[in-house]
Amino acid sequence: MTREEAKIRIDALCEELQEHNYRYYVLAQPSISDYDFDQKLKELEALEAQYPEFIRPDSPTQRVGGEPAKEFPTVRHKYPMLSLSNSYSLEEIKEFDARVRKTIGHETEYVCELKYDGLAISLSYEKGILTQAVTRGDGVQGDDVTQNVKTIRSIPLKLRGDYPPEFEIRGEILMPRAEFERLNREREEIGDAPFANPRNAAAGSLKMQDPKEVAKRKLDAFLYYIPHDLSGITTHYDALKKAKSWGLKISDNMAICRNIAQIMEYINDWDKGRQHLPYDIDGIVIKVNGLEMQKQLSYTAKNPRWAIAYKFKAERVETLLESIDYQIGRTGAITPVANLKPVLLAGTTVKRASLHNADIIAQLDVRIGDTVYVEKGGEIIPKIVSVNLDKRPAGAQPVKFIDRCPECGTPLVRQEGEAAHYCPNEDTCPPQIKGKLEHFISRKAMNIDSLGEGKIEMLYDHGLVKNVADLYDLTYEMIFGLEKVIPADEEKKEKHISFREKTAANIIKGIKQSEKVPFPRVIYAIGIRYVGETVAKKLAAHFKNMDNLMEASFEELVSVEEIGEKIAGSVIRFFQKPEHREIIERLKARGVQMQLAETKSSASALLSGKSFVVSGVFEHHSRNEIKELIERFGGKNTGSISSKTSYVLAGANMGPAKKEKAEKLGVPIISEKEFEKMITKSDIP
Ligand code: IVH
Repeated sequence: MTREEAKIRIDALCEELQEHNYRYYVLAQPSISDYDFDQKLKELEALEAQYPEFIRPDSPTQRVGGEPAKEFPTVRHKYPMLSLSNSYSLEEIKEFDARVRKTIGHETEYVCELKYDGLAISLSYEKGILTQAVTRGDGVQGDDVTQNVKTIRSIPLKLRGDYPPEFEIRGEILMPRAEFERLNREREEIGDAPFANPRNAAAGSLKMQDPKEVAKRKLDAFLYYIPHDLSGITTHYDALKKAKSWGLKISDNMAICRNIAQIMEYINDWDKGRQHLPYDIDGIVIKVNGLEMQKQLSYTAKNPRWAIAYKFKAERVETLLESIDYQIGRTGAITPVANLKPVLLAGTTVKRASLHNADIIAQLDVRIGDTVYVEKGGEIIPKIVSVNLDKRPAGAQPVKFIDRCPECGTPLVRQEGEAAHYCPNEDTCPPQIKGKLEHFISRKAMNIDSLGEGKIEMLYDHGLVKNVADLYDLTYEMIFGLEKVIPADEEKKEKHISFREKTAANIIKGIKQSEKVPFPRVIYAIGIRYVGETVAKKLAAHFKNMDNLMEASFEELVSVEEIGEKIAGSVIRFFQKPEHREIIERLKARGVQMQLAETKSSASALLSGKSFVVSGVFEHHSRNEIKELIERFGGKNTGSISSKTSYVLAGANMGPAKKEKAEKLGVPIISEKEFEKMITKSDIP
């Protein structure tokens, strides 16, 4: 390819990928497969690497371009970023409407929109290119977080259509609930404090220093306001429609309302409907539609007079705080949990609520026997918001936070700057051991799916396993016939577990099979605090084997990309303990993978010469994992089925067209299970 041809191809790929991004993230109507998208992106990356002079600022490869920021520069807003005045009742909406009519002298149209519960952002586009993204800050000046915002796929780096040469648009950055839950699970897995709600998670993500990390959090955005005139546009509604035609993400849920009744209908519909949205909204925003009228109404010092927010009322009930339990997590963190007299709230019975930590208990000043107010806002988990002091029983005493672990009696510790108390007895405190065992067997770790929470508990209670290495000493004879009745839960019937022939054999087999789990997952599985899946992969790639990792110095650890002081310190502390080293030695002796498999060696050429088409959804792996495995074992991934395809690897929901084509060409269709056999046993069908 000549230089000229490369430039033409780079431009064409940029445009094409932008179009696909727009269809996927803005319209939610993708028109090519993820695989084909990735192939094109890879082609673009390769060409850009060869001809860096042709990299365009709007190239889809430039979303995660920037270097980690030490500090975000402060930028003054061209137009101040005001907030909205809040209202909570029909009365207040009526008053707002009356004020509007009085100023403009007649009835008017309103636009009702969802009030997204995220953080406000102001975007600047010049010649159709995203040039700056600034947070609200104090309304006068905010932080320039452009590099981080560029990682959000629904925010176009380049516009389409007849956009003006320069303009600003404002909106909200948010984290969808599913992503929030995924992120919190991941954080809890590595012992990091979870975020309290999606808004905090979005805000925390946007303030991260490394855009690469931000890109991993699947943030989204809706745009809802242009703070200046656009030529030929006279209403807010038309301005947003126009912005939509430039490829910007504007909600389809805005509506024009002509009177209070219509506004109230919109409010009531969304108060009920919001639980079905994939993200949180905390109310409705009502805006005067005509832009001339907006100007006439103008602003107070803080808010526009042409708009008002209606905030949904969080459902709140009163109930009795009966007692407080203290739960101990895998990392030893203590979480106080309130036991409440069961009460109905927003359609579900609530009987427990997290009290988070000692500070929160002190702040609320809740006491046993208190009548407390419990709320369920946008968030899913109910929380105690305050105490009804009128009903406090005489003599109720402030809660004295426990000072010893309720399970093992060890005195608790609380590190400077940390909110949680910890039980430091990480190696013999029962819930910590069970938690570590559960983590070890989990899907992303050693994936021993013949064991689960209940069975781990049983093995532990019978004194058969006290640490992860003990699992590998289990024999069929040791576990066959074990029995246990799990105490009856109030709702569920009591569970009777017993290890019959099949169960016992499966457990032993599952443990044996886990010896093949690749080294990076072993690092993750052993449960070093702050070492999640990604960090484990980085450590494995750098240190190659467990001995190197165990002997690594702090300096060497922090020299690894993405390993900071917190993680490095944690790795050092973990391997300083002789107990941990002994466990590693025992795992090693049992054949657990303690080094990186040599890639592309004969051992990984099981699939050499074979080409695969992967289609559908799989049970044990994501599609990308499957593709990685194929490559790791020497096979090739291809996009479409031809007579040269060796296998079609089919998950659930494989398209009927693919199936038909494979059958027509006589290409064998194999399942995930068969594929797993292929790469473990080499009995290729
Ligand atoms: S309009 C000058 N529309 O709520 C008015 N704001 O307390 C500009 N918000 O600062 C704001 N959804 O962060 C507007 N559809 C929406 C919104 C919205 C959420 C946020 C925004 C604003 C705050 C007001």
